[in-house]
Amino acid sequence: MILVFGSINADFFLSVKSLPRPGETVLCPSYTFYPGGKGANQAVAAARLGAEVMFAGSVGKDPYGVQVLKSLRDVGINLNRVNSKGTSTGTAFVVVEEDGENQIVVASGANLETCSNQIKDSDLSLCTYIVLQLEVPVKEIEDIIFRAKAAGCKIILNYAPANVIQPTAIECCDYLIMNEIEANSLFGQKKGVEEYAIKFSERFDAECIITLGPKGSLLATREGLYKIDALKIEAIDTVGAGDMFVGAFSAGLFKGECSTNSLKRATIASGLACKFEGAQPSSVTPQLVESQLHRLPSPRKIV
Ligand code: RIB
Repeated sequence: MILVFGSINADFFLSVKSLPRPGETVLCPSYTFYPGGKGANQAVAAARLGAEVMFAGSVGKDPYGVQVLKSLRDVGINLNRVNSKGTSTGTAFVVVEEDGENQIVVASGANLETCSNQIKDSDLSLCTYIVLQLEVPVKEIEDIIFRAKAAGCKIILNYAPANVIQPTAIECCDYLIMNEIEANSLFGQKKGVEEYAIKFSERFDAECIITLGPKGSLLATREGLYKIDALKIEAIDTVGAGDMFVGAFSAGLFKGECSTNSLKRATIASGLACKFEGAQPSSVTPQLVESQLHRLPSPRKIV
């Protein structure tokens, strides 16, 4: 089972000609609602790609809570570890400009009430892949990482959005996934992306992926450093592409693929996701991903 412990939000998408600068007001005709939240997006991606998924998170007792959970229920995700608290459901305001660049502000709401004790010890076993991001309280994430490690789970940490987390918790993780900005923040000073990947892999004894948007991504393992290109596509919306990547990578591991094969499928899935609006596009299916494998060379060892 893949157990996702993380955020779930109501996303409000606003399409603008150009992103507002500090102090500036910009207008757009309307907004579009989509289910979102990094945790929920990753859970939906993994479930759509054929994994058995359980989600642990929190929603408010408001109409948005019902709507965002429906998206998870519709793809068969087990919601027995979801709390429905009195506060408002997490809300994200996603502003996307014409060339695809975006800004996101999240009002965390019920996500702040997510607790590690929502997960029972019986959920954590050698067969569990636990997937985490940093949109719920870090103390709870650290706690669940330590429990998951003790239970022998495989731990996948998406270091997004960047936040301070105990190095001893990161050391428990088997896979670290982050983009260049997040890597920079974790490292504490600006370095080359290859250096980030190799250093994190050695320092935390984990496989480390640095995603590079249209430039593909890097994977550092004990065997060496691998590079994969991005899928060539006309992107209309990159919001959630990173979540599709994490969900698809986790689903690949869950289905028994090695990390380089999982990386290739995740790269294809996240590329395809950029062709659809919203962070949980329903159109990226296992069949579509398999049909595109020929379009992308496999990861190549560069160091
Ligand atoms: O990664 C994209 C997600 O970040 C959005 O769905 C939004 O809810 C924020 O959590």
